[in-house]
Amino acid sequence: MAIGLTALMLLAFLLGCSGTFAEPQNSEPAAKCSLIGKWVNDLNSTMEINNATNTGVLNGVYKTAVSASNNPIQPSPLVAVQHLGDQPVFGFTVNWSFTESITVFVGQCLLGRDGEEQLKTTWLLREKVESAAEDWGATRVGTDIFRRAK
Ligand code: BTN
Repeated sequence: MAIGLTALMLLAFLLGCSGTFAEPQNSEPAAKCSLIGKWVNDLNSTMEINNATNTGVLNGVYKTAVSASNNPIQPSPLVAVQHLGDQPVFGFTVNWSFTESITVFVGQCLLGRDGEEQLKTTWLLREKVESAAEDWGATRVGTDIFRRAK
């Protein structure tokens, strides 16, 4: 009788533990990828994104490391829109202040395996041309990956 009761108590104890083994009890808050802050890309261009609003509209400044223009490079304003999830899809436009071109970027803020944030983007750069005959060559396309600037 005593052995049966002990076995029953042991079983009850093990069943109680099973939830403990299945899920962490002190789970960390879910990691989130945020656009806010300073970023550097594979070309060594940098940008700073500020002004989070709960509408998903943001502002920032972009400093490109490279240019198709011969003009001296200057910091240029950007305006972004984003969804509000943990790994949001976004788009932003840079209105280059030193030349009459515009770049639009689309991408997603993604967490790597180590939890590191990355902005994976695809861009279109439109330069100004003087006539419709030159339109065919006015747009470049590419990809950039941004990481948090140290
Ligand atoms: C221009 O040359 O017309 C303006 C500067 C464009 C810089 C491009 S935008 C896409 C790519 N990624 C960068 O960081 N810089 C280049």
